[in-house]
Amino acid sequence: MKKLIVANWKLNPPTLKEAKKLAAAIVRKSKHVSVVCPPAGFLSGISFPRLGAQDCFWENRGAYTGQVSPVQLKSLKVKYCIVGHSEKRLLGETDEMVNAKARALLEQGITPVLCVGFGTKVEQDDLEVTDILKTQLEMDLKGLDASKVIVAYEPVWAISNGDPLATSKVASPEHAEKMAIFIKHRFGVGKVLYGGSVNPYNAKGYLDQPNIDGLLPGGASLIPKYFNQIINL
Ligand code: 13P
Repeated sequence: MKKLIVANWKLNPPTLKEAKKLAAAIVRKSKHVSVVCPPAGFLSGISFPRLGAQDCFWENRGAYTGQVSPVQLKSLKVKYCIVGHSEKRLLGETDEMVNAKARALLEQGITPVLCVGFGTKVEQDDLEVTDILKTQLEMDLKGLDASKVIVAYEPVWAISNGDPLATSKVASPEHAEKMAIFIKHRFGVGKVLYGGSVNPYNAKGYLDQPNIDGLLPGGASLIPKYFNQIINL
């Protein structure tokens, strides 16, 4: 089955030239469907069949210095947009903001890739994690058509510092599958991805799970050799 692999480049690379080179190195014909999320400043300079953004604002115009709106993303042919990433929540993004962003994206026909898993701890059991996800998703998805939202389960403790082979902390595929089942059944979410230290060696374990519809790699998406391997597993 074709799965969805969303590359989150985060704050990389430093120049447009390097970003173009990175996008060009990703194979266009692959077993799975790939999406590239470059930094916002590079979105208009990159050519890739499916583009995603890493964040957006919830208003489409007005006196909001520094923001990027869903309507602007739409004009750049952006089809997906990450919201609620742990690295944004750490800087103060609230569930109310995540909800407003996801709503504004859906109004423009852009699919939100809503990240949950902030606040989870490695030692927590499945039940404790589902409690956290439930609280987050009740707020994040409030009033939205959940079937149009992609949820990425990214346990915050499993996110790498950028080294895709530093696999000391990863969620097991079995745990990720259980969380995916919970998210789908409880909230009617269409697709669930897993993210957190995904690399070419552990990716298949997640892709083999029937309820995990794809992956959200960070560090590994910056290395074309690794990303090309993942999208062809
Ligand atoms: P890593 O794959 O580097 O752990 O990053 C995951 C992530 O945060 C993707 O959004």
